[in-house]
Amino acid sequence: MAYIGASIHRGRGALDGKRILLIVGGGVAAYKALELTRLFRKAGVAVRPILTRAGAQFVTPLSLSALAEDKVYSELFSLTDEAEMGHIELSRSADLVVVAPATADLMAKAAHGLANDLASTTLLATDKRVLMAPAMNVRMWEHPATRRNLAQLQADGVLFVGPDEGAMACGEYGFGRMAEPPAIFEAAMAALDSNRALAGKRAIVTAGPTAEPIDPVRLITNRSSGKQGYAIAQALAQLGAEVTLVSGPTALPAPAGVRRVDVETAREMLAACEQALPADIAVCVAAVADWRPESVGAQKIKKGEGGPPPIAMVENPDILATLARSPARPRLVVGFAAETNDVEAHARAKLAKKGCDWIVANDVSVEGTMGGDDNAVAIVSAGGIERWERMAKGEVAKRLAARIAEELK
Ligand code: CTP
Repeated sequence: MAYIGASIHRGRGALDGKRILLIVGGGVAAYKALELTRLFRKAGVAVRPILTRAGAQFVTPLSLSALAEDKVYSELFSLTDEAEMGHIELSRSADLVVVAPATADLMAKAAHGLANDLASTTLLATDKRVLMAPAMNVRMWEHPATRRNLAQLQADGVLFVGPDEGAMACGEYGFGRMAEPPAIFEAAMAALDSNRALAGKRAIVTAGPTAEPIDPVRLITNRSSGKQGYAIAQALAQLGAEVTLVSGPTALPAPAGVRRVDVETAREMLAACEQALPADIAVCVAAVADWRPESVGAQKIKKGEGGPPPIAMVENPDILATLARSPARPRLVVGFAAETNDVEAHARAKLAKKGCDWIVANDVSVEGTMGGDDNAVAIVSAGGIERWERMAKGEVAKRLAARIAEELK
């Protein structure tokens, strides 16, 4: 990790006067929290430390307090601490909460919402962004329980920096070393600086498949994991938008800060979208079933003498086209097109047919796109086509959200 001394100086413009609540957990890496505190202070950022009981086995409250130039908080029901600042207020008085080192124990508590000491109570009570710098033995880091906790915390919107790979204090080698203080510093600065370009804007995102019943046990649906739509809802929310995610059946947890409305059929999806109007942005990512059975059997259709039953189908409403032509049309309406051939030509045709502003075209003939984690997309608009390189769906989402913010500026 290159030292980034040049960018660390007191008074980094907008960051001057920002406040960080620094939770120092118990691990050998706790000594690095002292250097991290020094970097924050040098940049003009106020640091209020919480030292866990285990953390105090590794660094002294005195050294942390001296570097932070503030009091160190450690006990949940300490009369002196609570008199000065109650734990709820403490959790909200900062612009960002940084946990370094984030031990396996702190991660587990935060993932499960446990609150039995000052650090965990603060993590549960905060309404601010949380950045964790994990530090633990490689086996603990790779344990399925830690992987589950990590996934849960990420779904809750917690940011992570590290851990790095390297030799550990316990003599083992692998992932689990806490990120170096300059890297944590940069991640914290990025989180503090995070652009809220969509604050005050309302967005509707459709995601996942729709399921159209044939009878009480059978249905017609499309293949869609919902991953791309969920990632877009999350990315828009991270830029400050108020997001309604209208989702067909998926196995995904709702992203943090997003209002999710669960639906099954295309007609329910349309109704939920119309209810969420007015909005500034609509992004239709759902794989809506184009047709539905004309009538839904009240009872399970039995195998009869006459062979398979004919199923008469009728067309479903087109949600994207309906929103694009609505009297309450969002300012920017974006559709997705999953194509297997002539991607650009089909996207252009869809742009005209649906009346939307952009079509995000993705080539699903590329193996691993459906249900996978990567996507190669092109943005087609009246102005032309922008091709993006293949990247993770999360990255596509962030870039699309940034592009939307730029458009609405
Ligand atoms: N879409 C929608 N409602 C529908 C069908 C599609 O909102 N009933 C939206 C999708 O969410 C996507 C876009 O329209 O944003 C493109 O959907 P797609 O199924 O690829 O296009 P179709 O119009 O169905 O064309 P085709 O099936 O012929 O490719």
